[in-house]
Amino acid sequence: MTTHTWHARNAASHHVLSAGEKEAFDRDGFHFPVRVFTPDEIAGHRARLEAFERRMGGPLRGQMRNKPHLLFTWADEIVRHPRILDAVEDVLGPDLMVWSANFFTKEASDPSYVSWHQDSTYWGLSEPDVVTAWVAFSDSVPENGCMRVMPGTHLMDQLPHVDTFATGNLLTRGQEVQVDVDPALAVDISLQPGEMSLHHVLLVHGSEPNPSTRRRIGLAIRYVPPYVRQTAGPRDSAMLVRGTDRYHHFDPEPRPKVDFGDAERAVHQRITEDAARILYRGTEKAAPI
Ligand code: NI
Repeated sequence: MTTHTWHARNAASHHVLSAGEKEAFDRDGFHFPVRVFTPDEIAGHRARLEAFERRMGGPLRGQMRNKPHLLFTWADEIVRHPRILDAVEDVLGPDLMVWSANFFTKEASDPSYVSWHQDSTYWGLSEPDVVTAWVAFSDSVPENGCMRVMPGTHLMDQLPHVDTFATGNLLTRGQEVQVDVDPALAVDISLQPGEMSLHHVLLVHGSEPNPSTRRRIGLAIRYVPPYVRQTAGPRDSAMLVRGTDRYHHFDPEPRPKVDFGDAERAVHQRITEDAARILYRGTEKAAPI
């Protein structure tokens, strides 16, 4: 029997991506699918999310979609799940912080979509060493508006974007990349419940509406190594989930002790409002409540 201690994992490193898959990630800018949760485990997380939504009278809205790991112990468990961190470590190295996390939910027959964009555009981060782990709570397939990516576009550097603030666009500014995207070259990131994909912060991606009769739910978790800095605001915050932070560029965020407690709600409100100021800087737009 093997004992998986913290030390042993750091010393031996549990690779999730093979050498060939890591090479493909560097070339293409994404990797999928990675199985994180069993169907039962992810159904449990979905049930906890949906029980909360029933209590709130509807799907998560506004800032409630952002940084759920500051509000809910189950979301905190997800963002520090060893299987996710092992995979992200294969790309970013052993010291990992969660910079953000966002639910991307499309209801049945939902016209919401995501325009083609690079995540890096308004995040203000000092380097493109940022990986998103997109965890599927439901299936996420072409029929219900799964994420689509343009292979290799992460090698193109930062591209110009225009803010559309278009109705139905799930992005903060409705930002859209100003290059011709040939949809014929796009790859559908099809995932089953409990699987995840990884993508690079400069990879051009988007998604179509959900015309199906079922919800599509995903949690996008943004990981950075601690040497990354926020360049657009006075201070930013993040949560160390593996290894060591020797840089202290981000204010440390506290883990939730209970689900949706008063202290958790106060911390979450302050932090997501600060983050919205960074994401909406230079626009007339106020942060959504
Ligand atoms: Ni994105």
